Amino acid sequence: MDGAIEIDDITKSYADPVLRGVDLSHESGVLALLGANGAGKTTLISILTTLVRPDGGSARIGGVDVVREPAATRRLFAVTGQETTLDDLLTGRENLVMIGRLLGLGRAAGRRADALLEQLDLAAAGRRRVATYSGGMRRRLDLAASLLSRPAVLFLDEPTTGLDPVSRRRVWEDVRALAAAGTTVLLTTQTLDEAEALADRIAILRDGRIVADGTAEELTAGVGGQRLVLQDAAGAEVRGIDTDGTAASLARALSQIRPEEQDLGVALRSPTLDDAFLALAHETPEVAA
Ligand SMILES: Nc1ncnc2c1ncn2[C@@H]1O[C@H](COP(=O)(O)OP(=O)(O)OP(=O)(O)O)[C@@H](O)[C@H]1O
Ligand SMILES: [Mg+2]
Repeated sequence: MDGAIEIDDITKSYADPVLRGVDLSHESGVLALLGANGAGKTTLISILTTLVRPDGGSARIGGVDVVREPAATRRLFAVTGQETTLDDLLTGRENLVMIGRLLGLGRAAGRRADALLEQLDLAAAGRRRVATYSGGMRRRLDLAASLLSRPAVLFLDEPTTGLDPVSRRRVWEDVRALAAAGTTVLLTTQTLDEAEALADRIAILRDGRIVADGTAEELTAGVGGQRLVLQDAAGAEVRGIDTDGTAASLARALSQIRPEEQDLGVALRSPTLDDAFLALAHETPEVAA
């Protein structure tokens, strides 16, 4: 499969270890790599896109080894990162045509540019200089530029950071459409709602390793037991105490209710994806053990 991504035991250290043995594989659709600031998401993307050499391990895109065959690998993917490579003085269309020519599309560059502008709903904007674009429009033009080469795999490093909610949703729609058309997408994100909205699968990177990998439902189920929630009169959660689902741990959770909390309401609720993310990517939750 051209779009398959296989990552085997990748390690990378700078001053400190960043990736301590990352294993991950992805066949098709959208995989969201979720992790806190500094977790190593960009480092992993840089390794997969042949910009950074791993210290150990291996990775393949479409079966091609990214370290041993970087040039062949580069023909299979496109990447959009935080910094855009667009020329402000040119129009959107001129940018695409120029990049298309650099990619060797020749006279087909114009047709391809027009098709992509149409696809990403930028046809009118394509006639204006990029200097006049909003952040969201730039991001989508960037996406169009990465698609010029018809990549089997698209890497998106935090594709919506800095965009307003409407522009984010627009980019989400574009990414979904691309995936539906057969492009394999690996995107990084710091936000759970983005992972949930876009991804078929979510992998969580923490302390240099993938600590969870599955659908949103699987990750949520993995958190296990019910959470004892203390609520104020309006029903807002004041504090939550996780249990492992046994009666004994519920009894322990009840015994942890503080004197000043005696008048609060109580409820038991199943873990949400939010709980799973907090538990897996950030902190160890308070578990009644
Ligand atoms: N070229 C480099 N030289 C030295 N240290 C680096 C380099 N690149 C990354 N690091 C360090 O590696 C760690 C992981 O960085 P990385 O950019 O991969 O994280 P990230 O998950 O993408 O974070 P963010 O969500 O903030 O983008 C950080 O501690 C960073 O300081
Ligand atoms: Mg990053």
